[in-house]
Amino acid sequence: MVDWHGKSLKIGELNIRVPIVQGGMGIGISGKKLAAAVADQGGVGVISSVAIGHLGIPLIDEEVAALAKERKESRNISVLRQEIRAAKKMTTGVLGVNIMVAITEFAQTAKAAVEEGIDIIFAGAGLPLDLPESLKDEGKTKLVPIISSAKAAALIAKRWMKKYQYIPDAFVLEGPAAGGHLGFSKEQIEDPKFQLESLIPEVLKEIRRIEEETGKEIPLIAGGGVFTGEDIHRIMALGASAVQIGTRFVVTEECDADISFKETYINCTQDDIAIIESPVGLPGRAFMNKFLSQAKEGEQHPKSCPRHCITNCAGKEAPYCISSALINACIGKQDQGFAFIGANGWRVKEITTVKKLFEELSAEFNKAMSESSQSKRIVSTNL
Ligand SMILES: Cc1cc2nc3c(=O)[nH]c(=O)nc-3n(C[C@H](O)[C@H](O)[C@H](O)COP(=O)(O)O)c2cc1C
Repeated sequence: MVDWHGKSLKIGELNIRVPIVQGGMGIGISGKKLAAAVADQGGVGVISSVAIGHLGIPLIDEEVAALAKERKESRNISVLRQEIRAAKKMTTGVLGVNIMVAITEFAQTAKAAVEEGIDIIFAGAGLPLDLPESLKDEGKTKLVPIISSAKAAALIAKRWMKKYQYIPDAFVLEGPAAGGHLGFSKEQIEDPKFQLESLIPEVLKEIRRIEEETGKEIPLIAGGGVFTGEDIHRIMALGASAVQIGTRFVVTEECDADISFKETYINCTQDDIAIIESPVGLPGRAFMNKFLSQAKEGEQHPKSCPRHCITNCAGKEAPYCISSALINACIGKQDQGFAFIGANGWRVKEITTVKKLFEELSAEFNKAMSESSQSKRIVSTNL
């Protein structure tokens, strides 16, 4: 078993042996296979719920199909239920679902995930101000907002306490080096004041204030650009209880995306990674390809908007249909879509397995840990 110097992550009664959360990656990039593999290694495996029903996954669970008919649920919700059930059969580890606040079916998706007994809901790309609504009487699921500032943590906690008498179970702080949509302006992305290492102390200060006020322990999970075990050590030394990693998990055998998506990462150079404007209304970090260049030139306007998946998307007026583009990339049509990728994505060189990645990160983490305790000993003997 891989050793992490006893640095486990505790979210309420959930004991997570390895302080790594696999970031939810849509559309279809982190499905049941990746999530179960990560959970099996002792981290938190996260299924991305966004547009999961449009990936061509057949609905074979009869019980889920009957439920869908009875409740007139959308295909998205039914496929998500099926994915959660299947992932639970594949692992006894801790599983989460990632839900984007910006999607039209946010509340129904959260409610379904709770009904399926998911361990944790991670909600980002907007402020999940009414997420506790999904819990009702089934209070086992932990609720974890994804934020990019101390202000967002304060706002969510205040609203949840006032309206729902509920305190967030943890926060994920996502810095501007992350892949996918970013909660920063284009200027902030480059500004040293907004880098993950600068944000952690500010957010921790706010979390400690909420903890004092409520008496509840609230761990901070920090991510965006975390690439090595040494990075994990550095982020945790700043006070984070765990890290969230996305990009590195894409380039694993277990990742649910088509092989061509993973090859995009392997063949990518630093110059290929760019900040784009997304129809979701946020900047995003992506692998710049012909599709995105054409979209910039106004050549990829959608002909129709059949899904109405994003609340504030301009539909037919949008520069491109983000859900179609991401679905296409996930299923192997790279010329009809694009891949989100983290700032450090160009550093990956080969496809590995989730198990080997955990071993590599743990060895680097333990090395950094020993070196830092050694240098602390030298400083104290010199005093
Ligand atoms: C391909 C890809 C898709 C992503 N999709 C989502 C998503 O649907 N929802 C979300 O909250 N974050 C999404 N993210 C962000 C990840 O969950 C995670 O926070 C981020 O990747 C961490 O930074 P890293 O990639 O540098 O490790 C995505 C990231 C990538 C690389």
